[in-house]
Amino acid sequence: MNEQVGVAWVRVGAEAELPEGSQTEVTVDGVSVVVVRYEGQFYALRNNCTHKDYPLLGGEVSMGRITCQKHGAKFELSTGKAKTLPAVKPVRIYRTLVEDGEVYVAPL
Ligand code: FES
Repeated sequence: MNEQVGVAWVRVGAEAELPEGSQTEVTVDGVSVVVVRYEGQFYALRNNCTHKDYPLLGGEVSMGRITCQKHGAKFELSTGKAKTLPAVKPVRIYRTLVEDGEVYVAPL
């Protein structure tokens, strides 16, 4: 990870063990983050709905969005933007990296 010097990458797991549709929780700087594989790409968001204090992990993923199971707010995986009420604030996103068959996440 030569070009990524200074970034505290957290290992999520082997890419082969993170199939399409998988959701994996990791801790980045003490914060719970959910890593979602969707259409082959990895997306990482803070595992916390911005409406109320509720985890996004396990929410349905479709149309590039993850749905909070509590009241149904939808967040765009690529930007963290809230797309459906009752959430209005974006959820923090993290960057992901696949290198040598391993998946990593780090703060943006
Ligand atoms: S807590 Fe997520 S929509 Fe209300």
